Amino acid sequence: MLSNTILDKLNRQVNLEAGSSNLYLHMSAWLLSQSLDSTAAFFRAHAEEERAHMMKLFDYINETGALARIGDVALPDVNWSTHIELLEAAYSHECAVTASINELVDAALQEKDYSTLNFLQWYVAEQHEEEHIFSSMLHKARIVDTMEGRARFRFDEEIRKSALNQGWVHQHHAGNLPHHAVSGGGAGQE
Ligand SMILES: [Fe+2]
Ligand SMILES: [Fe+2]
Repeated sequence: MLSNTILDKLNRQVNLEAGSSNLYLHMSAWLLSQSLDSTAAFFRAHAEEERAHMMKLFDYINETGALARIGDVALPDVNWSTHIELLEAAYSHECAVTASINELVDAALQEKDYSTLNFLQWYVAEQHEEEHIFSSMLHKARIVDTMEGRARFRFDEEIRKSALNQGWVHQHHAGNLPHHAVSGGGAGQE
């Protein structure tokens, strides 16, 4: 059984995950308008993931006999002037979600709600992964935005090709290499 405090916080998280899903869907639309089709496809798929995060919370709350509710979902601010600005917004949104999950974990600990604490571990791990994905995407976008950065990626791609094609790494370690470079190259394995 959930305390009112935990129930309220879990429902706020349901709302936040619904907001995340909407935000990323809006971002995918904006990215499409900029012909960034692959990034748009990533954000569209990620919007679905956020919805799955929401449903997982929704189910957990209902399983305890309490009532899950979504509430009013905030309208995202869609005024991005560059894709880098959009990626900064996405990354900082993920950091805010992490802070919210951490607050929930704190509350569950304080109340000795071990079931909720256990349930939340999945979200703790998920936020670690998502912060990593969004920060590396932002990092790459910033690098590719400069001539020097593009040269650096080109160099990295050359190393990848050499490692694969000239036996610099043994075949059984080839899986550790990225499947393709961020830019340039073109000889990637799909
Ligand atoms: Fe999420
Ligand atoms: Fe997320």
